Amino acid sequence: MIKVRNINKSFKGIQVLEDVSFDLEQGEILSIIGPSGAGKTTLLRTINALEKCDNGNIYIDDKCLCKDGEYIKGKELREIRRDLSFVFQSLNLFPHMTVMENISEAVINVLEVNKADALKKCAEILKNLGLEEKENSYPYELSGGQRQRVAIGRALAMEPKYICFDEPTSALDPSLTCEVANIIKGLAKDGIGILIITHDMEFVSKVSTRVLELGSGKVKVTN
Ligand SMILES: Nc1ncnc2c1ncn2[C@@H]1O[C@H](COP(=O)(O)OP(=O)(O)OP(=O)(O)O)[C@@H](O)[C@H]1O
Ligand SMILES: [Mg+2]
Repeated sequence: MIKVRNINKSFKGIQVLEDVSFDLEQGEILSIIGPSGAGKTTLLRTINALEKCDNGNIYIDDKCLCKDGEYIKGKELREIRRDLSFVFQSLNLFPHMTVMENISEAVINVLEVNKADALKKCAEILKNLGLEEKENSYPYELSGGQRQRVAIGRALAMEPKYICFDEPTSALDPSLTCEVANIIKGLAKDGIGILIITHDMEFVSKVSTRVLELGSGKVKVTN
């Protein structure tokens, strides 16, 4: 379970996150919604230690990522990060790498799986995402929805316990949105905990098992 407890974050004296607390269990799809500027991306970044919250605690299963705003570092942080994958709005695909290279790079270099096994595992993921024919394509040769699926594949290849998505539908048309919704539901069925940060209410109602609202700092339960 990801446990976020009473986190606060200010930028230059302006409070963006105020006393935010929530839990995310494996197998559930939690959506956190809120207007532009409500602090959604900031919240996601604090869970990955890309941004430090000012105070509060964050636990990933039995491990403490952050206590009273103090984050763990080095090897311990790298270990916790293995359980979490992030799919950012900008996707952050490597433009000079093929689809297969994008997906397998961290499997080989971070998980230290040997290349042949990594390629086999990633080929299976590409097949499940309907991208088997795009293995050797570069990101610029793909549609927006295909790029989105590559980013999901790259997250999945790390075999995380949790995947956090920032605005997963922002580049997608309605039919692709439906496709990504089905992929996400399948991931949750496989026991992955999904955190979605978005303002796409239609998507939220399609996929979520729980919704929290982030507005004026506070998170409140809406269903
Ligand atoms: N590094 C930073 N330095 C200063 N202010 C920041 C920084 N990052 C975010 N902010 C401010 O914090 C507030 C929340 O930003 P954030 O990106 O988390 O919002 P959001 O809810 O994700 O919005 P959107 O829906 O537009 O993506 C904004 O007012 C933003 O300007
Ligand atoms: Mg954002």
